[in-house]
Amino acid sequence: MKKLLVTGGAGFIGSHVVRRLVTRYPEYSIVNLDKLTYAGNLENLRDIENRPNYSFLRGDILEVNFLRDLFQREDYDAVIHLAAESHVDRSLENPSEFALTNVVGTLNLLHVAKEAWKGNTDKRFYHISTDEVYGSLGAEGYFSESSPMDPRSPYSASKAGSDHFVSAFYHSFGLPTLISRCSNNYGPNHFPEKLIPLMIHNILKGRPLPVYGKGENVRDWLYVEDHAAAIDVILHKGKPGEVYNIGGNNEWKNIDLVKLLCQIMDRKLGQPGGASERLITFVKDRPGHDLRYAIDSSRLQRELGWSPTVDFPTGLEKTVDWYLQNKEWLDHVTSGAYRDYYDRMYSHR
Ligand code: NAD
Ligand code: DAU
Repeated sequence: MKKLLVTGGAGFIGSHVVRRLVTRYPEYSIVNLDKLTYAGNLENLRDIENRPNYSFLRGDILEVNFLRDLFQREDYDAVIHLAAESHVDRSLENPSEFALTNVVGTLNLLHVAKEAWKGNTDKRFYHISTDEVYGSLGAEGYFSESSPMDPRSPYSASKAGSDHFVSAFYHSFGLPTLISRCSNNYGPNHFPEKLIPLMIHNILKGRPLPVYGKGENVRDWLYVEDHAAAIDVILHKGKPGEVYNIGGNNEWKNIDLVKLLCQIMDRKLGQPGGASERLITFVKDRPGHDLRYAIDSSRLQRELGWSPTVDFPTGLEKTVDWYLQNKEWLDHVTSGAYRDYYDRMYSHR
């Protein structure tokens, strides 16, 4: 494998995937294609941007002619497709934008890959999906690869739609596809609209910590570098046409997680115990808020030999330390275009 196209490589997970591939495979050429929306930030890749096997290409997956030219010109061996609109709350405000980027954008890439690759089964089209396509669990059970899709938010509906198109291109046209569905990621470069970095950011600013409903919803958290390692393994060893679940086996109720983060922040900031917890504010619940996600990733562990390596206390400490050492990054991403949205969504609560 020589030339890889990574879409969405300037975003949170994409930047960790790009860094891993660029540093582990100096013989590969890694091209990062990203539109640089509010969520894409080249600062995420500053440490590897001058590597000879890395290049950045600004582009929009909605521009199919641009994609077609690119795929005709460059002989990519694989595409790892992460570019997406990724935030559930934003999808409630603007579902169409999610349908466009996540469904039509994915379809565009499938089209041009099919045209350019002409039935070559050595190629790989690897689509990065989410456990949210499976819907919501009750108190018991896990999502497996054969769980029915039951998306509840416009975001998860758009991801489920894109998964269906990927699968359709495998079955109808023999495109060698891979899909993985991961649980909630956390770690450095996570945009502060998502739970963990939002709480860290708001504690630093002395702002309220908005917990939706009673904080009883459960998420299964995985350190982002473990997700990048799983993507690496699936790219190289995954079987075309298959789906692989990725998860941390690490379930937390939101309120317990926020309280743990408050304790870590108080300790790191030298504040008296309870200082951050006093900022917790219970706010109106997210509409259609999925109660619980929990992933059964035993197939990936058994068949491809992946398992998570970063335990949650270590991962959270590393994450908090990164945000404390990168306050400039936080200032940059919370200013400019994002500012209006950020103020509207969080300041009034
Ligand atoms: P992100 O929002 O941080 O990054 C998305 C990236 O896609 C950004 O760099 C953005 O500029 C780029 N992008 C958006 N629209 C584009 C377009 N039209 N053309 C080109 N680039 C475009 O997202 P993330 O959290 O890193 O998620 C990456 C992928 O992983 C998504 O597909 C998401 O559904 C999936 N995923 C995320 C999680 C999670 O916990 N964050 C878990 C499972 C799966
Ligand atoms: O499960 C994988 C998914 O995880 C990914 O596909 C998505 O791209 C990613 O954004 C994430 O979705 P969630 O909706 O689970 O993540 P978020 O960080 O938005 O919320 C996590 C939990 O915290 C959820 O139950 C809602 C709650 N929450 C979130 C925010 C932003 C709050 O209570 N308060 C908040 O301010």
